[in-house]
Amino acid sequence: MIETAPTARLLVTGGAGFIGSCYVRDVLARRDGTRITVLDKLTYAGNRANLAAVEADAEQAARFAFVRGDIADPEAVGPLVGDADAVVNFAAESHVDRSILDPAAFLRTGIDGVHVLLEAVRREAERASSGVRARPPRLLQVSTDEVYGSVEEGFSLEGDALAPRSPYAAAKAAGELLARSYHVTYGLDVVVTRGSNTYGPYHHPEKLIPLFVTNALDDRPLPLYGDGMQVRDWLYVADHAAAVDHVLRRGVSGEVYNVPGSHHVPNRDVVAQLLAYLGKPWSLVRFVEDRPGHDRRYAMDGAKLAQLGWSNRVAFADGLAATIDWFRANEAWWRTARSGDWDAYYERQYAGRLANTDAAAGAQPVAEPVAAPVDVAPGSAPADAGA
Ligand code: NAD
Ligand code: TYD
Repeated sequence: MIETAPTARLLVTGGAGFIGSCYVRDVLARRDGTRITVLDKLTYAGNRANLAAVEADAEQAARFAFVRGDIADPEAVGPLVGDADAVVNFAAESHVDRSILDPAAFLRTGIDGVHVLLEAVRREAERASSGVRARPPRLLQVSTDEVYGSVEEGFSLEGDALAPRSPYAAAKAAGELLARSYHVTYGLDVVVTRGSNTYGPYHHPEKLIPLFVTNALDDRPLPLYGDGMQVRDWLYVADHAAAVDHVLRRGVSGEVYNVPGSHHVPNRDVVAQLLAYLGKPWSLVRFVEDRPGHDRRYAMDGAKLAQLGWSNRVAFADGLAATIDWFRANEAWWRTARSGDWDAYYERQYAGRLANTDAAAGAQPVAEPVAAPVDVAPGSAPADAGA
């Protein structure tokens, strides 16, 4: 366990993205003296506007620095790790559909990038053992439940075999295995978190919930893959970010911690609930050709993280309402996110799928409240208990 001092210096890689920026905003807002440097490549998914609240607050801005750069670039990474007490690595290409279209960037950031970070941490560990610095930095590698592959029943435990089924998930599995190998071989202080499907403000609109919310706001069709019965376990972004911080401070070196959500539910029920909240009709939904290799269900056991003293705070209904309210209030943000390569991507991903589809036939799923959770994982957060 590390005791991160109030004046700790954190290097947060990928800190301009969805979850990383929430982590940065929330840690700096504690005003406990923590200093953060963000290293971010600002890919299509990274956005400095996600950190505007920090930069607009003089006290927080004084403890914050932003560096544009690539985690796969040793020249950029080395000095920043040299100045850090801990590294929290959120940087990744994060969208499964894009990994199916173009896997190469996923491997470069997810494997080569993690390797460069680990080599920099290893060098600092050597400097610590020769007395040049007080103690080696801890590295927290942010991973995902997708490394377990599709889990038809039951709940994944941290010791279960990894069986990733998309290039995204395979790159994430490779990155965390590399990180653990550096713990075993070189004694580096490494911890890994495996978070489940995350949602909330600042979520890039390529992902299910923000795509469907923003399409619905524009009365555009909602492309639901396959039969829409794939189950995800939804985790509010502030809970994910806080769980990562909890593991950074209290996690046992070399260990992996599942970070489950609060609500296992099929996609079509999520869509019904968000449409009901928006006051938009189910007829916007189109059942379209499925994602290749589409994982049917993710579900993790959260007992290990619960034993570390963590539980989620945000129930799904509350988190979804807050998310939709945020997207309604921040139209300029999501319209900017849906610019650049967006039209080309959307055309490639959806034009063929949406051609010749009709409004979804059949009965609309029950929307409000979303049916009782399909199942509840041991150690899951109590946030939705009784929902
Ligand atoms: P995101 O795509 O919103 O953000 C990724 C950030 O990383 C962006 O700011 C991007 O510019 C940056 N980045 C990408 N490649 C980089 C590189 N080579 N060097 C430096 N920066 C780079 O992703 P997110 O949803 O915030 O996910 C963050 C992390 O959490 C990822 O590692 C992802 O695998 C993991 N995760 C995400 C979810 C989820 O549901 N979103 C769930 C579990 C785990
Ligand atoms: P996504 O948000 O891409 O996250 P992940 O693939 O990491 O789970 O997708 C969530 C679920 O929604 C997944 O089962 C795929 C489905 N989905 C659709 O049905 N249509 C879409 O357009 C998208 C983006 C996702």
